[in-house]
This record gives sequence, structure tokens and C-alpha cells, in this order.
Amino acid sequence: TGGRVVPVTRDELARHNRVDDAWMAIRGRVFNVTRYMDFHPGGVEELMRGVGRDATKLFDEVHAWVNYPQLLNKCYVGPLKENLAPRL
Ligand code: HEM
Repeated sequence: TGGRVVPVTRDELARHNRVDDAWMAIRGRVFNVTRYMDFHPGGVEELMRGVGRDATKLFDEVHAWVNYPQLLNKCYVGPLKENLAPRL
């Protein structure tokens, strides 16, 4: 508890795409699922399909009913933020 909540850009999200550094966005919220990896009932390989990106669609296709906010309560990183437009 008391972890710092920071907004995450899509670029930043994409950098955390490894099994030992795995972030995932679901419905606009980014979670660090690294420690959940070995507990995912669907297995590591399946969970990895959604890592480093917005996994909302994948998640809903398989198990839209799963209570991820509760399961990943301690894994919350912050809201997904769109990348800023480059300066002209
Ligand atoms: C199964 C949680 C993301 C694929 C499950 C189950 C839970 C769960 C609780 C067991 C469901 C049940 O037996 O009723 C989560 C959480 C996720 C997540 C908290 C977010 C971090 C994903 C992603 C995929 C995925 C991104 C990729 C497609 C699967 C599959 C199963 C499964 C294939 C097995 C379904 C079955 O055996 O019927 N997951 N999951 N999950 N999950 Fe996930």
C-alpha cells in the first residue's frame, strides 16, 4: 500500500514487455503483472500475449468477468496516458 501512482505513456508501457518486467493496460489502467505471472491460471504464455500493451480486448475475449482490479490491487502502476504530440 501507499505506492506511488504515476501516469504511463504507451511508449513507457511498451518498454515493459518481458516476462521479468511485465506491464499491461486494462481499461485505461496500467498494472505491473511481473509478480502475478506465475499465479495466472491461464499460464505464463497466455498472459505474455497482453504484456507491454493495451490488453483490454484480449482480456475480455477470454474472461471479461475476472475481477482483475482486486487481483492486481497491489500491482497498480497508474493511468494510461496518451503520448504527447511531438513539438513542431
Ligand atoms: C484464465 C486472470 C490476463 C488468458 C484466467 C483465470 C483468471 C485469470 C482468474 C481463471 C479463470 C477461470 O478459471 O474462470 C487474469 C488476470 C489477467 C489476465 C488478472 C490480467 C493481468 C490474461 C490475458 C490473456 C489471458 C492478457 C491472454 C489472452 C487466459 C486464459 C485462461 C485464463 C487462456 C484459461 C481459460 C480457461 O482455462 O478457460 N486468467 N488473466 N489472461 N486467462 Fe487470464
